[in-house]
Amino acid sequence: MPTPSLHKVPSEQVPIALLLEADPSPCVIARYLQEGHCVVARLGEATVGVYVIKALTADTWELMNMAVAPEHQGQGIGALLLRHAIEQARQLGAQRLELGTGTFGHQLTFYQRAGFRVVAVEPDYFLTHYPEPLFENGLQHRDRLRLALAL
Ligand SMILES: CC(C)(COP(=O)(O)OP(=O)(O)OC[C@H]1O[C@@H](n2cnc3c(N)ncnc32)[C@H](O)[C@@H]1OP(=O)(O)O)[C@@H](O)C(=O)NCCC(=O)NCCS
Repeated sequence: MPTPSLHKVPSEQVPIALLLEADPSPCVIARYLQEGHCVVARLGEATVGVYVIKALTADTWELMNMAVAPEHQGQGIGALLLRHAIEQARQLGAQRLELGTGTFGHQLTFYQRAGFRVVAVEPDYFLTHYPEPLFENGLQHRDRLRLALAL
């Protein structure tokens, strides 16, 4: 399996379809994309993965979006991007990287393996912050988990 190359890109060059894999709301994406530090994974000409990190404070950054194209999932690209996001945040001066997720399945394991710890639960977050109900594997997203990694 060829290893993708990683590139920092302006936000307008990130394929919206990829971002929507992780976050189904174009409005929510638009809010963080402008101020985001965006990195894409490319295999040849194709963009196969992305992450977006954003400063919350001087020393705390948030992983706003992380996605791999469905046909390229399970090949280690997500793990490569996550390691890179952690290293980038550290280089940008972060001492803590946070994220929020409504998925309690393999994505949670994916982040916990990288060292993230659950630090809070925000009940009803997805009911109050998204205009449409969100479903994954037939289950409605209601509560958001906050995860954090000390860098
Ligand atoms: C989460 C995501 C980014 C992981 O990317 P990926 O390239 O598929 O992940 P990797 O191939 O690097 O796998 C990382 C680990 O997760 C596990 N994993 C990945 N997909 C999995 C799945 N569907 N079911 C179970 N485990 C899975 C792998 O087994 C691997 O574990 P290992 O390190 O023990 O081998 C990808 O599944 C994705 O884009 N999902 C849709 C968007 C999304 O949910 N983003 C996160 C929002 S919180």
